[in-house]
Amino acid sequence: MIPFVDLKAQYASIKTEVNAAIQGILDSCQFTLGSEVAAFEQEFAAYSQAQQGIGVNTGTSALHLALLAANIGRGDEVITVPFTFVATVSAICYTGATPVFVDIDPKTFTMDASKIEAAITPKTKAIIPVHLYGQTANMGPIMAIAKKRGLLVIEDACQAHGAEYNGRRAGSIGDMGCFSFYPGKNLGAYGEGGMVTTSNPEYARTIRMLRDWGAEKKYHHVLKGYNFRLEGIQGAVLRVKLRYLEGWTEARRKAAGHYNRLLAGSGVPTPTEMPYARHVYHVYAIRTQERQKWQQALQDQGIQTGIHYPIPVHLLPAFADLGYKAGQFPHSEKAANEVLSLPMFPELTEAQCEEVSRAVRALAGKPVGKAAATA
Ligand SMILES: Cc1ncc(COP(=O)(O)O)c(C=O)c1O
Repeated sequence: MIPFVDLKAQYASIKTEVNAAIQGILDSCQFTLGSEVAAFEQEFAAYSQAQQGIGVNTGTSALHLALLAANIGRGDEVITVPFTFVATVSAICYTGATPVFVDIDPKTFTMDASKIEAAITPKTKAIIPVHLYGQTANMGPIMAIAKKRGLLVIEDACQAHGAEYNGRRAGSIGDMGCFSFYPGKNLGAYGEGGMVTTSNPEYARTIRMLRDWGAEKKYHHVLKGYNFRLEGIQGAVLRVKLRYLEGWTEARRKAAGHYNRLLAGSGVPTPTEMPYARHVYHVYAIRTQERQKWQQALQDQGIQTGIHYPIPVHLLPAFADLGYKAGQFPHSEKAANEVLSLPMFPELTEAQCEEVSRAVRALAGKPVGKAAATA
């Protein structure tokens, strides 16, 4: 049995430290925000090459508050992609603004910068590129368009802890970066968590207030805020895990390297790491036009896979009111029909990659022996 992710293996490897960190919170009773959260904010911001980090309860709240801090709301438009997790789009809707979609580049699964200009209207305020699967969007052209047109860029870095674009870390390239610490993420809490990173002190100040009922100091509410605080236990656990993140990322990259090598010549499209990128492989997605059959066949052999994501947001019933139709974003729609995420987690062994790749090659009609014989 090869799981899709293995959180138990990871916990086993850091159990003593994590247990001590949680015990520390039980002893201090700093259950929400507090010194561990503050220390984690500083450490994660530094890791992400940003000046400030503001811990919140989820990645969704990070996006929501980043948009509010930028004063985005009713009557405004925000450009993003339909091939993302629903939260990117929901966060835009929470503010009252309208999401406007542009298609992805099928090679990278991220925003096609050449489509942005045509989507800009006088109402456009911001662009949210999504660093899907752990590779940053092509940020150079996106930042250039944003600068030229006076737009803000909020990175959805929820899948991209430690990812880099030409040496710059995700979360430090746009005006703000939004991270999720959902348990299955590359840096996952033992519960929910999120963070906004920014080097703009004004945004940071506003988000700090908004996450805690809009209070400037206790009971002095200067903004209509929210209860989006990060819990002390999550801050303490995340501090421990952050110390391991680089090692885990390198292990993911190594596993991706095994898959790339083992699937080469099979005709199965594998992820492309762009020359500008340090891909952190939150997800390792292959493509197949027989996805249902492949997923079932792999499951029958004890190999768990995932689909990220089967329906692009513009075709989800919840967003029918936006008025989009099938066929408008062909690359997103095709990707949604074809992507299949293989097991990917830092503890994945080379032998497990071999077993998965052997099964995938057999499904593709290019079994290992045959490929070797014809090579
Ligand atoms: C691309 C993307 N955006 C936003 C989110 C929302 O994060 P959360 O689940 O922490 O609210 C996630 C993860 O779930 C995500 O993958």
